[in-house]
Amino acid sequence: MTAHPGATQHQGSSKPGYVVAPWSLHWRGLDVDELARTESTFALSNGHLGMRGNLEEGEPRGMPGTYLNGFFESRPIPYDEGGYGYPEAGQTTVNVTDGKIIRLLVDDEPVDLRYGSTTAHERVLDFRSGTLRRSTDWTSPTGRRVRITSERLVSFTQRAVAAIRYEVQPLDEPLQLVVQSDLLANEPLNADNDIDLRKLDPRLGVDLQRPLVSDFADAEGYGAVLVHHTARSGLRMAAAMEHELHAEHALRTSVHAEEDLARLTIAADVPKGGKLQLTKYLAYGWSSQRSVPALRAQVDAALAGAMHSGWEGLLAEQRAYLHNFWDSADVELDGDDELQQAVRFALFHILQAGARGETRPIPAKGLTSPGYDGHSFWDQETFVLPVLTYTMPEAARDALQWRYSILDKARGRAQLLGQSGALFPWRTIDGDECSAYWPAGTAAFHINADVANAVSRYVAATGDTQFDHDYGVELLTETARLWVSLGHHDPHGGFRIDGVTGPDEYTAIVDNNVYTNLMAQQNLRDAATACERYSDVAVQLEVNDVEIARWRKAAEKMVVPYDEVLGVHPQSERFTEHDEWDFEGTPAQRYPLLLHYPYFDLYRKQVVKQADLVLAMHLRGDAFTLEQKVRNMAYYEPRTVRDSSLSVCTQSVMAAEVGDLTLAYDYFVETALTDLHDLHDNVRNGIHIAALAGAWLAMVAGFGGMRDTGGNVTFAPRLPDQLSRYAFRMCIRGSRVAVEVTAQEATYRLLSGEPLLLTHHGKQISIETGTPLTLSIPPAPPRPELRQPAGCAPVARNRRTGDDATGSTTMPARHTDGLD
Ligand code: BGC
Repeated sequence: MTAHPGATQHQGSSKPGYVVAPWSLHWRGLDVDELARTESTFALSNGHLGMRGNLEEGEPRGMPGTYLNGFFESRPIPYDEGGYGYPEAGQTTVNVTDGKIIRLLVDDEPVDLRYGSTTAHERVLDFRSGTLRRSTDWTSPTGRRVRITSERLVSFTQRAVAAIRYEVQPLDEPLQLVVQSDLLANEPLNADNDIDLRKLDPRLGVDLQRPLVSDFADAEGYGAVLVHHTARSGLRMAAAMEHELHAEHALRTSVHAEEDLARLTIAADVPKGGKLQLTKYLAYGWSSQRSVPALRAQVDAALAGAMHSGWEGLLAEQRAYLHNFWDSADVELDGDDELQQAVRFALFHILQAGARGETRPIPAKGLTSPGYDGHSFWDQETFVLPVLTYTMPEAARDALQWRYSILDKARGRAQLLGQSGALFPWRTIDGDECSAYWPAGTAAFHINADVANAVSRYVAATGDTQFDHDYGVELLTETARLWVSLGHHDPHGGFRIDGVTGPDEYTAIVDNNVYTNLMAQQNLRDAATACERYSDVAVQLEVNDVEIARWRKAAEKMVVPYDEVLGVHPQSERFTEHDEWDFEGTPAQRYPLLLHYPYFDLYRKQVVKQADLVLAMHLRGDAFTLEQKVRNMAYYEPRTVRDSSLSVCTQSVMAAEVGDLTLAYDYFVETALTDLHDLHDNVRNGIHIAALAGAWLAMVAGFGGMRDTGGNVTFAPRLPDQLSRYAFRMCIRGSRVAVEVTAQEATYRLLSGEPLLLTHHGKQISIETGTPLTLSIPPAPPRPELRQPAGCAPVARNRRTGDDATGSTTMPARHTDGLD
């Protein structure tokens, strides 16, 4: 049981952990040093509005955070040595007006958990109610005791709305309580993402100082509104609050607003056993076009709607929404209670990231932090959308519609680079390319094929012909056009795509990256069939038979390098001829390698940051024989360091396919616990949304063996030894299916919808409502010999249930200084 040797310093010494529970994330006790990471894991979001899990008092905190999807500030990207086509401006998500703050004074003493004593403190993120609950017993330095309880939600049903129910009870004696409920703009951050650190670690976000300029502030009664805009991106936002107050005795209130602060103050004498309760309703809105009065009206209206539903109404809507989600998406797992919790936590955060984004992107950190500046990458299409496509297809559609909405910018980018069609940005918020490091950004053309792949998958899995017609064909066409202009037919008859960067960012600007070429090949084929399917759209896009024939020819002749001597696929041409990396001589503290070695050295050696060829074997499994998959796995495993959290789930899926279920399980554990165990020591800078999606992928595509080839859904389930049973649900073309797996057999059930044709271990089956089908599981193929680089083997996981699984854990961190 090893990880990178440096990780061993964590072995045995356990970080405080979460209490294991099947339907919630639960933290007991106060540990101020752990606040930053739990603010990310306890974040609430609906994909439009996100709030870190900060304490209501505002302080202590790791980093405050409230985000509106798509709301960003632009900033110049300074280059000492620029170049043609380099993006000139960056974009960074803004910490918008903070409405979570409810400060409390107890007999003149501000409640601040760093002072006095906290005798009980508990927080629970409930996956079924969609709320974050908190309960704290606090004794002031002068001995006054109070109990503070709160519950808050970011509404899935009313996307502009958040609400907080906050209660204070004096425990021993009557007390005077003063509550200040704020809207606070331009909050100081002191996060660890300032400019100097960013120079060292480009993956952090830029710390924007005072990004909001006041437009309007007003307060009246129990409510207030603040409107601001950003200076450079010219976006405008409004935040409004209203309150309902309950106390047995007289209250005195006052309300006040200034440029960056609005405050409702409530003073009350509360007897022992009595309580002061307030319900705070919040509404947020932003726009690039709407005026101050229009935005103000928008948030006022959202607040009116929220108050009309009332606290109980919002709670009930939230619960009903989640009930529907779990009904189509739950994953059950018997034999490891902590993993059960982790998988539901993962699905809950995926839902939070995508549910109500509505034509906005899904950022790599969701709406939990400004990490990666709030940008969206291929993480969305390749990792998150496969989960949403089968669990919440409308959210997958929305995210793809965002891609469609930036198609004009993508066309412009392709044109600027002298290419046809469209080139999607490697990282962005609003569609403009923001990657300043061009070998990893601009050259990562595979983003186009990733988008196309997500479009084809969505259309095949849902049968959404409207989307296909209105958006899909155009997305497939414009992405396909890029490949034809980027690649060329060589004198030997092959179609080559040279000078690209594949998923593995430790190898850049290479020829014929197998992943890129195979994904482009599929993109070209799918574009051709889509244009034939919808000739009216093809005509509008000026696609003719000659162009379709060109796509088909490029696809047919696509070069896929193969090393005949070694009997493996080089991930790109000549890769297998490069020098080996000295793993034995690489100390653990020099991981992740990108922070400790020059790129030129990484680029010329056989060291793989993240699954690349192995990802090709997952997503284009039809292009490899099983024997090739086994040999390729045996070749790439000892060279892959997993310096990106996107890698491990793919390694899990492919380890399962080639027959190493133990390794697949250990990798599954790693992806599922990435954030809960803070394995990369950076969850304070946001959750890893692709790694969370990876937990589902490892279960369903890995152990379940699920593949979807053009709508032909096949399963090849197997049970890892560590589990006694697992089950998952999914949506396929409007029908809901449940698959349950034990060691000997798998049962397929149609929960609702039309009968479906599926495949179980190569055998076609038909499932109908009320007639579950149970089939036996054939023995796994012989377990291949798979090794990892020195110090990089995953931690071996044993079966963990019951008492044994509760409390903190001893998973070592993968690295000491954080990676993504
Ligand atoms: C990975 C990329 C990924 C990005 C955002 C990087 O470390 O190499 O593949 O898109 O993180 O998650």
